[in-house]
Amino acid sequence: MADTAALRARNAAFWAGAAAGWIRHADRQDEVGRPLGAAAMDRLTARPAERILDVGCGCGGTTAEIAAAVGETGAAIGVDIAEAMVNAARQRYPGIRFHSADIETLDAVPGAPFDAVFSRMTLMLLADPVAGCTTIRRSLRPGGRLAATVFRDSGVNPWLSAAMLGAAPHLGPLPPLPVGDEPGPFSFTDPARITRILTAAGFTAITITPCDVALETTDDADAVAEWLIEVGPAGAAYRTALPTAQASARAGAVRLLDRFREPGAGYRLPAGLWLVTANAAGTPTHHEPREDKSQ
Ligand SMILES: C[S@@+](CC[C@H](N)C(=O)[O-])C[C@H]1O[C@@H](n2cnc3c(N)ncnc32)[C@H](O)[C@@H]1O
Repeated sequence: MADTAALRARNAAFWAGAAAGWIRHADRQDEVGRPLGAAAMDRLTARPAERILDVGCGCGGTTAEIAAAVGETGAAIGVDIAEAMVNAARQRYPGIRFHSADIETLDAVPGAPFDAVFSRMTLMLLADPVAGCTTIRRSLRPGGRLAATVFRDSGVNPWLSAAMLGAAPHLGPLPPLPVGDEPGPFSFTDPARITRILTAAGFTAITITPCDVALETTDDADAVAEWLIEVGPAGAAYRTALPTAQASARAGAVRLLDRFREPGAGYRLPAGLWLVTANAAGTPTHHEPREDKSQ
């Protein structure tokens, strides 16, 4: 397994390279991807006048949803490592504050303390999740709440690798696949690991609940394939490929995504998630926290 500094650099480079795809498909991601965060958004119970942080906010769609819930007397702030996505979020939602930063290397997110933190599909991507979750906990007021979603395992999210596998033979080299606990879509598969990480980061009252949803989208096979390729690990290689290779990559993805398609009706992509909730412990941690793998 690579060391934390190497994983952090790899993560930053990956998201810098992925940003263009996420920006291009931001509206689709907001609309079709909504079920990926809906359970956490419900459990967040954002109230007027609250201050709420959105970690890994991408192009800001969920931050805007939170901003609407807390109203003008509250504040919703988004943080994301990808500067280009943060700039896109600022353009899409000019009244909302967004920060570009690696959550792992901040003492606390500017604007702290927050009443609550929301995060959709980000915590499992952190190079050092204890460091990232510690920043989140330090950014919360004592007792402040966390509501997040992460992927469960690959078996309950079969569509996730389909676009990459279908596209890969037609494209240049892809980023390295994660090994062991390295950051990636399925690094939070084990709920015991999530509990260890959040406990080490100073959270209490941790709950981890399975949640099954489906992403539903139109029956436009080419557009669905391109969206899933561009927001996945093959996105950067796809964007630099020749148009003929791009067309072959889309065709390859379409073939593997076919089992999720009902012709004339559209696609239904099943997604298995963990809904994770926790509260920030009241007292600050004075030592450098680590994940205790012995439990
Ligand atoms: C899978 S995307 C999800 C984006 C958005 N939450 C959504 O659901 O549409 C993960 C996001 O986390 C961000 N991210 C990854 N590592 C991060 C880190 N260490 N600090 C802050 N943001 C990070 C990425 O740039 C990306 O926007």
